[in-house]
Amino acid sequence: MDPVSLQRHGTVSVITVDNPPVNALSQSVRRGLIDCFDEAELDAVTSAVVLICAGRTFIAGADIREFDLPAREPHLPDVVSRIEATAKPVIAAIHGTALGGGLEVAMACHYRLADRDARLGLPEVKLGLLPGATGTQRLPRLIGIERALDMMLSGESVTADAALETGLVDRVTGKDLLSGALEYAEDVAALGPRRVRDLVVEPVEGAVFDKAETRISQKARGQFAPERILRAVELATRLDFDEGVAAERQLFQECKESPQSQGLRHAFFAERNAAKVPGLDRETPARKVENIAVVGAGTMGAGIACNCLAAGYAVRLMDKDEAALARGAETVRKLLAGGVARGKIAERDRDASLQRFHAGQDFRDLSEADLVIEAVFENMTIKKGVFAQLDKVCKAGAVLATNTSTLDVDEIARATSRPEDVIGLHFFSPAHIMRLLEIVRGAGTSLDVVATALSLSRKLGKIGVVVGNCFGFVGNRMLYSYGRENQLLLLEGAAPEYIDRVLTDWGMAMGPNAVGDLAGLDVGYRIRQERKDLPDDPRFYRVADMLAELGRFGQKTGKGMYRYEEGSREPLPDPEVQALIRDEAKRLGVPERKVGEKEIVERCIYGLITEGARILEDGISHRASDIDVVWINGYGFPRYRGGPLYFADTIGVADVYRTVREFEQRFGPEYWKPPELLRKLAEENGHFSDIGA
Ligand code: CAA
Repeated sequence: MDPVSLQRHGTVSVITVDNPPVNALSQSVRRGLIDCFDEAELDAVTSAVVLICAGRTFIAGADIREFDLPAREPHLPDVVSRIEATAKPVIAAIHGTALGGGLEVAMACHYRLADRDARLGLPEVKLGLLPGATGTQRLPRLIGIERALDMMLSGESVTADAALETGLVDRVTGKDLLSGALEYAEDVAALGPRRVRDLVVEPVEGAVFDKAETRISQKARGQFAPERILRAVELATRLDFDEGVAAERQLFQECKESPQSQGLRHAFFAERNAAKVPGLDRETPARKVENIAVVGAGTMGAGIACNCLAAGYAVRLMDKDEAALARGAETVRKLLAGGVARGKIAERDRDASLQRFHAGQDFRDLSEADLVIEAVFENMTIKKGVFAQLDKVCKAGAVLATNTSTLDVDEIARATSRPEDVIGLHFFSPAHIMRLLEIVRGAGTSLDVVATALSLSRKLGKIGVVVGNCFGFVGNRMLYSYGRENQLLLLEGAAPEYIDRVLTDWGMAMGPNAVGDLAGLDVGYRIRQERKDLPDDPRFYRVADMLAELGRFGQKTGKGMYRYEEGSREPLPDPEVQALIRDEAKRLGVPERKVGEKEIVERCIYGLITEGARILEDGISHRASDIDVVWINGYGFPRYRGGPLYFADTIGVADVYRTVREFEQRFGPEYWKPPELLRKLAEENGHFSDIGA
């Protein structure tokens, strides 16, 4: 079936794009658009043209998969020009999401009608691109430079009403879209075409560009596309439309070929693939979840409760300790209020959430919960106690989830008589904000419970990644290797602020030492104290342990790897820490030396990669890209580098392997013996990304 078709409704030619799932502008759609517009143009009866889409959305953009293939004609800018050149008025009828190339097509139409629920945006920056089909030249003409920059640099979409206000759309309808479009066609038939290319770009103060520049340096440091978006828009103020489009094309090609865009495109598909789990398909039933109970009213429990409330669930927060429960309930209220203040939650929704919120101290009140999420202290004995209680009180078929970040989910499941109902749901702090949910499948977890967890993650607005059961699962297990190298580097003479600066310059959202202070050095310390299987190496996490033993827990005590002024979260280098580390290194016989930036990056990042390879070997993860998704969304790994294993592919697995072998020689095999998988991929010139793809 042709993905683009034309039907006449009276004197209006209706061109329909039908290319599921999101009507992306694949080559056949581009060709079909040209053919149908040619046909409408030649048709003597046609007085106006409506462009509309079948299915769930208007065109959601270029077909991202085609970016990795040789370009095929007709190119999108030519399609867009063809549409705009039509001598009869053309109306875009928009529903769902008009994104990227989709919005560029809509902007080439002469009039835009949007369904009330539609959203419009140019999200290319999120793929390391700029709008490459005349968008950078049209949007400033339509809505002004400042707003256009805001939309293109943020990549965020706007509602139909907001688009109406700015002039991005001309009319909004709550009625049937096609009827609305046909009506509109009648209204504009006499007006004729109105082309965006003919509009002038309203001049603005230089300060608008300065502001955008500052925004880029603050929010998109080191990123390739935002600078080029700015340049394209600036050119729109100086060049005529066609020259601007030619310049945009050049900048778009640079972006498309940049490693950053390739990394971001990998991340886009990796996130969508994470939902595809072997053994599970759309037919696998998920259990019905309406009532959720959260056990443990600490920061994590309160964050999870808030997240579930905001997603529309009824939530019961439970803690045996009265004071802790009161604090937790207050935190939930504060988090919801914060959501309102930031414009993320409507007041009405906050009120409805509070209606669905209950708090209590009695396990017996959990008997009606469809899903219980345990978020108590990270201690096996305590968690097993909770699960034994849950086993007694919860109804048959309730999903029993643990929010453990490291512990053995199977051992926890054995505290119940129903291991098939038990699963790990590892939320990341702050739970109502972080997008990652590690879904830990135990040996006995039933498939429908995994499906339920995936469905929950979607409703919570999170990316669920299914992983196997082992210490730390995927994320924290890898964090151990990364953190281990950071800790050894500290003893070898690299200051915390130096390591953090090097890694943030490389793209990590935060340095490992600032993260340690944020999370609390006591947390990791307590976990390590409980573990029996740690390396017998006195240097292993020694600096963190030493500081924790001195009561330097991080931000919460005003001192950790850094020091903090009263009421401030800004990490300040602390000479006292430097002296403590130096003394400890002396005591352990670790010679001080000058550590180079390259070594810091390689030891920390290759530590991640080798552990990621071991995780694949062990079958804890079945797909390399799932590991990338975990590190991008849970640990601040730079999205534009595509995740640790994709990054290994980009520099060449053989190169990584060679360096790991050097580290093995230099630092010993205990930490650096290369995993078999790394060796195999290196020798066969293979790629991690092909594993489980
Ligand atoms: N190209 C190719 N495939 C796409 C796609 C695109 N632009 N957008 C979505 N898909 C695919 C997804 O990979 C997914 O495939 P699978 O089912 O095989 O996993 C399927 O469509 C459904 O996507 P989602 O799961 O994301 O569905 P959703 O309903 O949650 O979200 C959406 C829909 C909002 C459109 C979301 O998919 C999205 O944001 N897509 C990307 C939009 C975008 O970035 N457009 C700009 C492209 S670049 C461009 O247009 C450049 C230019 O200027 C020429």
